Amino acid sequence: MIRVTRVYRLSASHRLHAPQLRDEENRVLYGKCNNPFGHGHNYRLEISARGPLDDSGRALDPAALDRLVEEAVLRPFDHRNLNSEVPRFAEEVPTTENFGREVYRRLKDRWESVFPGPWPALEKVRIAETDRNIFEVAEA
Ligand code: NI
Repeated sequence: MIRVTRVYRLSASHRLHAPQLRDEENRVLYGKCNNPFGHGHNYRLEISARGPLDDSGRALDPAALDRLVEEAVLRPFDHRNLNSEVPRFAEEVPTTENFGREVYRRLKDRWESVFPGPWPALEKVRIAETDRNIFEVAEA
């Protein structure tokens, strides 16, 4: 069994603000991340899958994964404002934890149409918001 990890990069802006809390509570809870005008991140996304080797000597077709990631993740998120351009984040705070879960869900939903059969299996999404903040999602 081989684990394959492929790296992608995307830039997006967000504001951490929970609509169910008062403005002052949001300021205390999220600090500078609650700035009303938002701020941006250059996210580094690592997608890991595993499986046995196929006849080509590979565990995963990277071009097929690239097409999936382009359609499911990069097109909807790259150079976007997560709060206002992603329907889920109109309701849910776009922390990078939640962002990672959304990326995982989108990949999982489409995985079987790109990789029919048991392998390769989506294993993990790892998303780095900064050099110091890294989040891993193994299931939605
Ligand atoms: Ni942020």
